[in-house]
Formats: sequence, structure tokens, C-alpha cells
Amino acid sequence: MVITNQLQERLQEGFAKESLNAFNKILEKSIKSPRATYGRSGALLKLAELQSSNTLLQQGIQVLEVLLSNPDTPDALLLKSGLILADKQRFRGWTNRALKSLTFLNLRFPNNVDVVNDLGITNLILGRNDDAKKLFKQVLKLDADNGFAMAHLGFIIKVSDNNPAKAIPYLKSGIESGDKSAVDARFYFHLGDAYQRIGDTKKAKEVYDDGAAKKLFLSRDQRSLYNVERLTAKPWWDPEELPYQNAIETLQNNWEMIRDEVLEYFGRSGTDFINEAENLLDRGMWRQMTLYQRGERNKKGCLNVLKTCALLNNLQDATNCRRGQVKFSIMKPGSHVWPHCGPTNCRLRAHLGLVIPDGVKIRVGNETRHWKEGEFLIFDDSFEHEVWHQGNENRIVLIVDFWHPELTEHEKSALSPI
Ligand code: LMR
Ligand code: MN
Repeated sequence: MVITNQLQERLQEGFAKESLNAFNKILEKSIKSPRATYGRSGALLKLAELQSSNTLLQQGIQVLEVLLSNPDTPDALLLKSGLILADKQRFRGWTNRALKSLTFLNLRFPNNVDVVNDLGITNLILGRNDDAKKLFKQVLKLDADNGFAMAHLGFIIKVSDNNPAKAIPYLKSGIESGDKSAVDARFYFHLGDAYQRIGDTKKAKEVYDDGAAKKLFLSRDQRSLYNVERLTAKPWWDPEELPYQNAIETLQNNWEMIRDEVLEYFGRSGTDFINEAENLLDRGMWRQMTLYQRGERNKKGCLNVLKTCALLNNLQDATNCRRGQVKFSIMKPGSHVWPHCGPTNCRLRAHLGLVIPDGVKIRVGNETRHWKEGEFLIFDDSFEHEVWHQGNENRIVLIVDFWHPELTEHEKSALSPI
């Protein structure tokens, strides 16, 4: 007999309900029984998962909180249930409560590496990267081979401290430790990038090949982390291949108006152009001003270029991509942008050339192209790309992200924004 997923879920649900009743009965007689309390929380959390219910999740969390404050709870059970509690609290978005639970566990079991690692992760989620770093270092003092702590420490040193050379040995040992949780696309992504930045392109490629072989990346050159698997993947696209002719032509036909307006703003003030914030610039200067992001108008940016935004406002296809932006990008002579990949394969990035001096070029995948004023260059920025400006005048383009044409309407409305 074939047991469908649905049937299996119903069996599991029935089982969870039954065990919930059984544990409730035990608890009627011995109200504080730690084991029955633990059993009850397990049944509630299983039901919460099967029914995607926040109410049940919260009930399960509450029961575990009771268990943690019960002085009769044996140590092993306390530790086990405390780690589950923190995990569920984080899942619910109650990161500060998870921090409290873990701090309590850490006082009781100061040498337990799982607790300290979890504290590290929780601090990382809260953006307290320095605290997280100290905690992962503490784990390595207790357990020098802990792959989880090594990978995370390397990640922080690479991303927050911007120190690729120092990050490499940690990321590498983490990945090679055999700890399953360290085999994560983010660690491969940053290890490859760290090699790239110290000039070891060969090693970077090896890491990317390895990541692709492990299916962490769509391919060696396409290393976005938020993907829809089946989409056609190629570095360069022709405007005619996109079903957005009206938007593309309208913007192209108005390119001089757009150029004049942004030049006028830049000459008058330009202060809403901000430095690229993702640490992608090797040398030079690269600034952007956002007009739309995540499918929403950026009021501040638009106030500076009213005519351009009025035009865009009528071009739904150009502005509705919730996994992208519409923005002006200005780059000064002497700039070089490190090879990098965007976050998602769900968009195609169109650049309308506005001010294009000689000596600027962009490589996407294996092919390098040049912008032309009044024309679009369209590429899939989930592929590795790199930019050089060796000219002697600012380069300005309007960047417009379009949904990948093969996404369904349902996907476009359901995908999380980026
Ligand atoms: C990028 O999207 O990484 C760059 O190509 C943007 C730019 O201004 O060239
Ligand atoms: Mn990019």
C-alpha cells in the first residue's frame, strides 16, 4: 500500500493528539511530573508543526518554560528541553526570550558547547556580532574541532571584520569538519570570496566547484542563495527575450529626459546617492540612489527625480519586482567592483546607459560587454559579475530589475521580498 504524505500526516496528527491526551491524564494526577510535562510539550509542538499553528506553538513553548523553572526537572531533561525551547522561541521570532532561556542554561551548564553555540547564533540573529564572536571562540576553547563554531567564527570575521585572510582557515576547517550544519551555501560563498579577495582566484573556483557539486549553488558561476530551481539560467539576455517591451521601450525613448534629470539633481545636491553598502567595491567610488525597492516606491529618492518617477509609475513591469530595485548607479573613474553574485535568480537586471564614457566594462559569466548611451544591457545578476571603470568621467546608469519571465503570477506574489 502506498502511504501518501497526507495520510502519513493524518496518522501523525492522530498519534500526537492521542499522546497529548495521555500526558494530560498523567498530569491531572501528578501535576509537576517533569517527564509528562516534557511529553506534553512534544505533542503540542508536533501538532503545531502539522497544523502550522502559532497558538499551539506558543502553548508548547509555555509548557517548556514551566519545565525549565521546575526545580525537580533532572539535569539531562533540563538541558534537552531548554535547547528545544530556545529553538522554538527563535522560530516564533522571540529572539530575546531565546537569549534568556539560553543564558539560564549556560549558567547551569557552563561547559556545554551546544548551549554556547546556540547563544552565538542567537546573538548573531540580534546583530550582536562581537558577542557572537566571543561565544564561538569560547566554544573552540572547550572543543577545538567544533566545526559549527569554526564556520560561524570565520563568517563573522569575513563579513563583519572584513578580514578575508584571517577568515579563511576558520571557514575552511568548519566546512571540512564533517559537521553537517557547516555544509552551508553561505560558508562556501564567503570562503570562495575570501580567496578571491586575497588574489587566489584558483582556490576560489575550487570552492565554488565544490559548492556546486554539493548542490549548494545552482552552478559554479551562479551563486545566488534565494532561488527558484527550474528557471532558465544564462548570464546575458536580449531585450526582445523579455515580455516587458512597453516598459523597456518607454524608458529607452525617454533616456535623455532621465539622464538630464539625474544630472541636474547630482549637480544641485546628489546627497541621496549613497555609497554601495555591501562591501563589493575594491577601489574607487560607486554610489546609488534608490527609486523603488521590493516593489515599493522610495519616496525620498523619487522626490529628487519627479519626472523619472512619474514615468516609472506607469510602468508596472519595471517597478513591481519585489526581489529587486529601480535605482540610479554612478561610478567614478578608477573603480573596480569585485566579482560577486546577487541574492536571487528570480530577477533579471536591466541597465539603461545614461552617461557612458570610454573605458567602462562589465563581465557577467565569461563574457564582457560595454554599455551604450540610451540602450539597455540586460543580465542575470545571480551570475558572477564584475565591473571596471578605466575611463575619465563618471559613468551613470539606471538599473531596473524585472521579474524572471518564467515565474508564475502565484510565485511573484508569494515569494518573500528581497
Ligand atoms: C552591479 O549590479 O553589481 C553593478 O553592475 C552595478 C553597476 O552600477 O554597474
Ligand atoms: Mn551586482
